[in-house]
Amino acid sequence: MSLVVKLGGSIAENPSALEKVIRGINDIANGNPFVLVHGGGKQITSLLSELGIETYFVEGERYTDRRTMEVVEMVLSGLVNKQITSVLCHMGIKSIGISGRDLGLITTRRKIELGYVGEIKAVDVEPIKKLLGLGFTLVLSPVSETEDGLPCNVNADFVAIEVGKALKADKLFLFTDVIGILDGNKNLITKLDANTAKSLIEKGIIKEGMIPKVKSAISAIDAGVKEVWIGNNLSQGTIIRGKKDGH
Ligand SMILES: Nc1ncnc2c1ncn2[C@@H]1O[C@H](COP(=O)(O)OP(=O)(O)OP(=O)(O)O)[C@@H](O)[C@H]1O
Ligand SMILES: [Mg+2]
Repeated sequence: MSLVVKLGGSIAENPSALEKVIRGINDIANGNPFVLVHGGGKQITSLLSELGIETYFVEGERYTDRRTMEVVEMVLSGLVNKQITSVLCHMGIKSIGISGRDLGLITTRRKIELGYVGEIKAVDVEPIKKLLGLGFTLVLSPVSETEDGLPCNVNADFVAIEVGKALKADKLFLFTDVIGILDGNKNLITKLDANTAKSLIEKGIIKEGMIPKVKSAISAIDAGVKEVWIGNNLSQGTIIRGKKDGH
């Protein structure tokens, strides 16, 4: 089984929390190489504000004009990608940091209404398998490009899920900065089926950055992935499964 995990950007800012999460993932992977997709939303927002560039979000996705796209690429494929790769290498996990643009891994279609935001059209899984086969863990920045070579900002949750589907992963892990999906009373929902998740989005209980996570989790379940885990530590979290009772 190939393991695909996604890390929210906040974890990358805290090396000791990052190490703890990576140790847990490495245990699940049984020491085998895995794919780690990362975000970096908070780091992008802070550099944009230092540069005086304003942005806004539509259903958890950032409107991305050309200048914003450059900042997104610098932060995600540069700073965050290299910080995470370095931590893994220092932990003895042989890792290589790349983006969706490298090796033509991820091709996107532009969602023009969001500027340079892309939706995933294709994942070339062969180079990923080759690198894993060489024993390399992949640290993957979600920045990708269109067939014409235009850069696209893709939410990392979508990248993790599409790579997971392409690799036929059984389980997908989305690490974020909250304990899991919270209900209207801010209590943790431990098990969730795809239909209930959809209705929680409609009711506005699942919002902002949790929307792309849940939408992509549902598409993975529809594609045959058995379960998607969302949380910030492996001892708890929300498990999304296909059936109504969560089993
Ligand atoms: N019902 C909900 N339960 C839990 N979190 C929710 C809910 N609705 C919205 N959220 C928000 O979703 C956020 C997580 O998504 P966010 O995009 O901010 O982080 P991330 O995806 O982990 O990181 P990155 O965007 O850097 O990859 C939480 O911090 C919380 O504010
Ligand atoms: Mg996010």
